[in-house]
Amino acid sequence: MQVFLETDRLVLRRFTSADADDLVSLDADPDVMRFITGGVRTSREEIENEVLPAFLGYYQRYERYGFWAVIEKETGEFLGWFHFRPREGGAPGEIDLGYRLRKSAWGKGYATEGSRALIRKGFTEFGVQRVVAQAMAVNQASRRVMEKAGLTLVRTFHQPWPYPIDGDQFGDVEYALDRTGWQQLGGSGAG
Ligand SMILES: CC(C)(COP(=O)(O)OP(=O)(O)OC[C@H]1O[C@@H](n2cnc3c(N)ncnc32)[C@H](O)[C@@H]1OP(=O)(O)O)[C@@H](O)C(=O)NCCC(=O)NCCS
Repeated sequence: MQVFLETDRLVLRRFTSADADDLVSLDADPDVMRFITGGVRTSREEIENEVLPAFLGYYQRYERYGFWAVIEKETGEFLGWFHFRPREGGAPGEIDLGYRLRKSAWGKGYATEGSRALIRKGFTEFGVQRVVAQAMAVNQASRRVMEKAGLTLVRTFHQPWPYPIDGDQFGDVEYALDRTGWQQLGGSGAG
C-alpha cells in the first residue's frame, strides 16, 4: 500500500481498481448522498466507468493532488475519501478540499483530522496558497468540518444542480483559508 499521508487514526492512500466495491457501497447510503444527489445512489456502472477512472486519472497528472482513500488504522477498514485537488478554473496554488465518509465513521472527528493534515501538508510541502471548500448551505456537518479546519465563509451562491434536494433554495457556501491565515492560526488548522 502506498501511504500518502498518515494521521493519528487514519491512513490516506491512493485508490486502485480494487476499490470499486467499497465505492459502490459508500455511495449506496442515501444519508451519505443526501446533500450530493438528494440520496440517489451511484450505480456500479458509473463507479467502474466514470468515478474510479477519474480518481485514477489524477495520479497520472499529479503526484500530490487527487482523491485519497481513507483507511481506519485500528480496523483496516475503508471509510471513504478526501479530495485535495487543483481547483477548476482557480489560481495556481488554489486547492479544492472535499470529503465523503461512511455513516459508521461520522461524528468521530475523522473528517476534521484528515482535512487538517491535508491542509498542513499542502501549505508546508506542496506550495499551496489557498484551500477552498464548498457545500450546500444546509450541510451543517460539512460546514462544521471546514470551520474546525480553519476555513472561513467567503460567499453564498446559487448554481444549477440536476438533483432536487431539500434545502437547495438556500444555495451553496464557499469557505477558504489562505497560507497567511493558516500561519496566523499557528499552522495547525483551527485546533
Ligand atoms: C461531512 C462529513 C464528511 C463529516 O465527517 P465527520 O468525520 O463526521 O466530521 P467530524 O466528526 O470531523 O466533524 C463533524 C462536525 O459536524 C457536526 N455536525 C454533524 N452533523 C451536524 C448537524 N446536522 N448540524 C450541526 N452540526 C453537525 C458535528 O457535531 C461535528 O462538530 P463538533 O466537533 O463541533 O461537534 C460526513 O458527515 C459525510 O461524509 N457526509 C456525507 C457526504 C457529504 O455530505 N460530504 C460533504 C459534501 S460537501
